Amino acid sequence: MYCIDVLLEEHERITDFIAVARNACCSIIEGNDIPLEDLNKMLNFGKVYADNLHHKKEEDILFNAMVNEIGGAAQKMVNNGMLVEHNLGRLYLSELEKALDKYTPSTQIKLQIITNISAYCDLLERHIVKENGVAYPFGQRTLSAETLERLNIETQQFENNTKSDREYYLKVLDELKQKYC
Ligand SMILES: [Fe+2]
Ligand SMILES: [Fe+2]
Repeated sequence: MYCIDVLLEEHERITDFIAVARNACCSIIEGNDIPLEDLNKMLNFGKVYADNLHHKKEEDILFNAMVNEIGGAAQKMVNNGMLVEHNLGRLYLSELEKALDKYTPSTQIKLQIITNISAYCDLLERHIVKENGVAYPFGQRTLSAETLERLNIETQQFENNTKSDREYYLKVLDELKQKYC
């Protein structure tokens, strides 16, 4: 199912990002200075690729259909689970952004950076397990064939409209992987 396959593929790339970001945090703990530019690239990968592209696509397309067409347990899982976790992720990113905006190589700032990157990575890791194992299969099993076909078309349109951002941030991720993995 194309609309789900695109989301699963993005989870793979976000999982690569988690490895990069955790390695960068470990490097800071070991006393190395990570270039501020790289930390900003990680922040922007989270904001654009994970949030604007991936979470927004889940919210506007698959989860929207699950809430409107299945209701009940699907509505609870999306509204009280998945969307709450998306918002918590946004909070960690905004706290990380505040730390990077006032960056100095002080222990306090390093702590703020590590705390928020690490919390973001742990959240996303658990979130991906739930979506891959429960939320996506539930949607695929329960939505009608006609709805899933409509979601495929909406996903294709979303992908066409966001091609340049996606390509740019996958390139950024590759560069970061070469440095930190
Ligand atoms: Fe999600
Ligand atoms: Fe997801």
